[in-house]
Amino acid sequence: MKRIVILISGRGSNMEAMIRARDRGELPGLEIAAVLANRPDARGLETAAAAGIATQVLDHKAFADREAFDAALGEAIDGFQADLVVLAGFMRVLTAGFVRRFEGRLLNIHPSLLPAFPGLHTHQRALDEGVRIHGCTVHFVTPALDHGPVVIQAAVPVLEGDDEAALAARVLAQEHVIYPRAVRWFVEGRLHLENGRVRVDGQQQDGTLQAPLLA
Ligand code: GRF
Repeated sequence: MKRIVILISGRGSNMEAMIRARDRGELPGLEIAAVLANRPDARGLETAAAAGIATQVLDHKAFADREAFDAALGEAIDGFQADLVVLAGFMRVLTAGFVRRFEGRLLNIHPSLLPAFPGLHTHQRALDEGVRIHGCTVHFVTPALDHGPVVIQAAVPVLEGDDEAALAARVLAQEHVIYPRAVRWFVEGRLHLENGRVRVDGQQQDGTLQAPLLA
């Protein structure tokens, strides 16, 4: 059994997608040990509790600085004996010390095709730039914000008449597909970090897309 801890700050729909995938039997060998939030009002906490998953709040406002918060967060995660830490809409910049502590077992999902559009407001920025293809990325976390070895990406078209909400919804639907898939690869021991790049056992290495380009 591999144990994961999921970190959220709000809605928690990616976390919910993980729970659903588990319930459908798509994540054999996975135990969701806990869901942690840095905000007491994170809506996803209720979803997790309703699914019978342990929850814990570490309110970042109660800590003197980033280092103190990250140290407590690291302790909490270790308390749940996590093999993998899954950032799912966790809206905190993490210290280099925290990232090093969980190096190689810390995943994030970002709502853009990285390295395009790191940071916030990715969908509006994609619209403003007039890109035709947008998407989402699961990556291993490095100390640089929204940066790190790419595990899987999904692309969606930007359609005429899209507004931020429409584009965000199209991307989010794909986030819910690729994040459980990435976690499954980790649980199966198929994800390898080699020289700062990801190799997935059993994936074609001939240049074909890892995820289909959705028309
Ligand atoms: C997602 O778009 C995720 O990519 C980004 O924040 C959003 C979180 O949504 N990092 P949710 O909390 O998983 O619903």
